[in-house]
Amino acid sequence: MEMKVAPSVLACDFSKMGEEILKVNEAKADMIHLDVMDGNFVPNISFGPAVIKSIRKYTDILFDVHLMIQEPKRYINDYVKAGAENITFHVEAEYDVKGTIEDIKNQNVKASLSVRPKTPIEAVFPYLDDIFMVLIMTVEPGFGGQSFMPDMMEKVKKLRAEIDRRNLDVLIQVDGGINIETSKVAKEAGVDVCVAGTALFGAESMTDAVKDMQNI
Ligand code: DX5
Ligand code: ZN
Repeated sequence: MEMKVAPSVLACDFSKMGEEILKVNEAKADMIHLDVMDGNFVPNISFGPAVIKSIRKYTDILFDVHLMIQEPKRYINDYVKAGAENITFHVEAEYDVKGTIEDIKNQNVKASLSVRPKTPIEAVFPYLDDIFMVLIMTVEPGFGGQSFMPDMMEKVKKLRAEIDRRNLDVLIQVDGGINIETSKVAKEAGVDVCVAGTALFGAESMTDAVKDMQNI
């Protein structure tokens, strides 16, 4: 099966974000990954709903919002209004995981969960019946341009086995240090969706780079 590819705009040139989104559009990426950071859950600040809303008009590609923020439940409405079609939040960041998933889905938006490298994958097992995707971080969240952690593939394999055992169709996504080489490793482990920032926005041709990754 083809790998789904989600360029992460964290690596784009923010002074011309509209044009950068058009590149992703032209490349026929499967999703567009939007990293929201609060300087609290992660030691960095990126952008919020106003920026997401302003680029919504440049593409119809699925807006995959990755919330790296503490207490995401308080902010779900803002990201729905901004045009999110999937909202991923971290199990480590929210006390009311089930309620947050419900709040997202009640607004007809897909809900997904993420785990940091140190969090065991079993943390998402109780929610697998209710979510669209699991994002397994392959770097410590907070910054682009870090190196892929190959030992995270054990978590991918465990999750793949659990999804198959329960006959679910939850997608497995990885994020951090993904390039053409590491996306191959991810595919072998059972990943469905690769997020990549540096490798895609840094490529000479985004269209070729996305196509290569989709066909690895
Ligand atoms: C990191 C973010 C990633 C980041 C990936 O916390 O969640 O989405 O943009 O960047 P690269 O692909 O450069 O590692
Ligand atoms: Zn991300």
